[in-house]
Amino acid sequence: MKHLLKMSDLSKAEIYELLDLADTLKKEVKAGIQTPYLKGKTLGCIFQKASTRTRVSFEVGMVQLGGYPLFLSSNDLQIGRGEPVEDTARVLSRYLDGIMIRTFEQKEVEDFAKYGSVPIINGLTDYAHPCQILADLMTIREFKGTLEGLKLCYIGDGNNMANSYIVGMLTAGMKVSVATPKGYEPDADILAKYQADPNFELTNDPKQAAKDADVVVTDVWASMGDEAEADQRKKVFAGTFQVNREIMNLAKADAMVLHCLPAHREEEITAEVFEEHANEIFEEAENRLHAQKAVLVTLMK
Ligand code: CP
Ligand code: NVA
Repeated sequence: MKHLLKMSDLSKAEIYELLDLADTLKKEVKAGIQTPYLKGKTLGCIFQKASTRTRVSFEVGMVQLGGYPLFLSSNDLQIGRGEPVEDTARVLSRYLDGIMIRTFEQKEVEDFAKYGSVPIINGLTDYAHPCQILADLMTIREFKGTLEGLKLCYIGDGNNMANSYIVGMLTAGMKVSVATPKGYEPDADILAKYQADPNFELTNDPKQAAKDADVVVTDVWASMGDEAEADQRKKVFAGTFQVNREIMNLAKADAMVLHCLPAHREEEITAEVFEEHANEIFEEAENRLHAQKAVLVTLMK
């Protein structure tokens, strides 16, 4: 494992190694132990989109590991004024020990990995959000004791989260059922790869997807970059593509609910269901820190 650009970069064994390390690091930090695995190392964190969790958890994670994070907004970098990725990657690789990037096109993080010479971590693109998936897997295992054979149901837009749930959860040994409106399906290549997998189901019916689910997840109807379509999307998604009481009644009685956040109450999830599962959702948010520290140690130590 040299980079973390998307969930298909990881084998099942690598996922479990990261989750085990994340559990250990979580236990240690809660016991007041902060081993400086990355003493003196620097991580550049490039943001072309907004962030609360990703920014703060990467910065705090680097500090807890004895390293130093640099927040680099694309508004202030020459990349925001058109300096090519291949030049930026080669320059930054000479100063930094690792780079985390949140941007639009997946090709940009792939190019950073191609032209740079330090580990690259995808902190969200339009295509994938692998750091969130590792935190979600960690949280499911924490609450359920296992991942193997559990059914995850995703209701909503076929976006970066949907793509990453399909690849990540199936690789980890879970079953995945995805419900999107017609025309909002996940990435076509991912669907082609998994369409024959007996553990994967794609439907336009959220109720079918929710049946006997162990974990119910959703995400915003309009992702960062989709702002211009937000009103149109509301019309398409409203009333049907929502995690609510009716959906939860179809899932298993002890089903958990996750949301990568930020959440829009009464859009993709009702306030009632959100608050009932707030302990799971905020543990998931916390686990971003521990899961990413495991990624940082694995890639940069
Ligand atoms: N879930 C997530 O990535 O949150 P931020 O956009 O706040 O980083
Ligand atoms: N799909 C959302 C996830 C935010 C963490 C987005 O890309 O905006």
